[in-house]
Amino acid sequence: MLALKWVGGSGGYLSLLDQTLLPSRVKYLRIRKLAEVIDAIRRLAVRGAPAIGVAAAYGVVIGLRELAPSTPAEARRSLKRVRKLLAESRPTAVNLFWSLERMSSRAEALDAEGAAVAELLGGLLDEAIEIHEEDQRLCREIGRHGQRLLRSGWNVLTHCNAGALATGGMGTALAVIYSAVEKGKKIRVFADETRPLLQGARLTSWELRRAGVEVTVACDNAAASLMGSGQVQCVVVGADRIAANGDVANKIGTYGVAVLAREHDIPFYVAAPSSTFDPHTASGAGIPIEQRSDLEVTAGFGKKTTPPGVDVYNPAFDVTPARYVTGFITEQGLLEPPFKRNISGLFRTAATHG
Ligand code: MRU
Repeated sequence: MLALKWVGGSGGYLSLLDQTLLPSRVKYLRIRKLAEVIDAIRRLAVRGAPAIGVAAAYGVVIGLRELAPSTPAEARRSLKRVRKLLAESRPTAVNLFWSLERMSSRAEALDAEGAAVAELLGGLLDEAIEIHEEDQRLCREIGRHGQRLLRSGWNVLTHCNAGALATGGMGTALAVIYSAVEKGKKIRVFADETRPLLQGARLTSWELRRAGVEVTVACDNAAASLMGSGQVQCVVVGADRIAANGDVANKIGTYGVAVLAREHDIPFYVAAPSSTFDPHTASGAGIPIEQRSDLEVTAGFGKKTTPPGVDVYNPAFDVTPARYVTGFITEQGLLEPPFKRNISGLFRTAATHG
């Protein structure tokens, strides 16, 4: 099961699993227009930071093809426009901006080599596929490193969905679980249902069951009771953006889970590839938090649950201060405090290797 895949050559299309329909229906959308990519990102048909980044890379190819520039100078203008439109789709996951930056750098390099428009399009498709394949490798590495932290017999709590559905590969937080189970460890997952859009109840439980991993869905407000009664040995979540000091933006509710984990002496790990770290944002205070429609709270899934006209607070993400994080599980291994120093080290290593 793939969240998304490119089908065909530069005349092809983006095949994207519409996650708004899960778990009731498995339907792949055939996306050939930029407006459709943006719409899919906005309404969470594709979601999860790494998957949004991969979709945006393919979106650049789709957008450029649609604008059909006839000269390299026109192509440069078209790309700028496409990049701006994609950048406005969702603000928090930094993978989106990281991916657009990579696509732009590739376009500039091709331009400098004197590439014709058709060559530019082909080169950008290659870059998007490379971003996608790289994400698959990073997920596997995160799983390989992270599984060492889990002991057989443990119950692991996760929030939202940081699995295969949220990435181009096997996931981040769930890659840790999948890899541990592959190693023969007995792991049970508690999936927070994740109000208001129920990514845990609808998506995490769906993909874990398909993979044969034991999973129990719990209401978000059951986390304290689960931890207090000794039923959780470890928490692993994903991230949308990690600031230079280690503050973590992730799905709304993650902060509460982290505070509860600290109170109960339970390790709280954040699994994320280096593309989710934002060395340009000093702390969580600088991370833009997406505010979503009132309707997700007042009439979730079409059912009215509040009186008319009530005020609503519906941020899609919150920021967990770095002090609550036991460690970051990255493709390069476990990153422990002091986070500021070790996160900047992550980028020094990436620069020397990359
Ligand atoms: O609003 P969503 O569903 O895109 O939010 C997703 C999350 O918060 C995930 O935990 C995060 O993107 C990490 S996915 C590997």
